[in-house]
Amino acid sequence: MKIAVTGKGGVGKTTVSAVLARLYAEEGKKVFAVDVDPDANLGLALGFPEKVLERMVPISKMRRLVEERTGADKSNTYYKVNPKVDDIPETYGKEYNGVRLLLLGTVETGFSGLHPLQRGGDRSRSGRRVALRIQQGGHRRNPADQKDVR
Ligand SMILES: Nc1ncnc2c1ncn2[C@@H]1O[C@H](COP(=O)(O)OP(=O)(O)OP(=O)(O)O)[C@@H](O)[C@H]1O
Ligand SMILES: [Mg+2]
Repeated sequence: MKIAVTGKGGVGKTTVSAVLARLYAEEGKKVFAVDVDPDANLGLALGFPEKVLERMVPISKMRRLVEERTGADKSNTYYKVNPKVDDIPETYGKEYNGVRLLLLGTVETGFSGLHPLQRGGDRSRSGRRVALRIQQGGHRRNPADQKDVR
């Protein structure tokens, strides 16, 4: 059984997830808890010692593993979208009180900041900074698609 807990900020997702994980573990079930929140705190809610959490590396930071599984690297922009992952919780998770925890971390996307060409103060006609939306492949879009940001 897989349970995904989602919803708007601060409604109790982490608390509910941790309680469910602990209750299922107490029933003797094998529990994998996967924290997909970039600001991960499920480990603390599960009672993991901070020293254990500090040493945990999120999967998104394991570049070599990601390259190995997806085939993506600097010279190859084509990659598998369904890589083998079924061994990852067992291998890279940490267990405490019967719950095995895995951290996914966050992915830095091409949309998260200004394009390098724009750094240094390019201005749109209105005088505000502009952020370019970069298409897959890194090409600039039509300037008409530029989005003003404050
Ligand atoms: N059933 C509840 N009754 C009262 N308070 C609760 C309940 N569930 C959670 N809380 C409290 O509400 C706050 C937010 O809970 P929690 O961190 O679990 O939410 P979240 O949805 O994971 O938040 P975020 O979106 O920031 O990750 C915490 O202080 C938590 O202790
Ligand atoms: Mg949360």
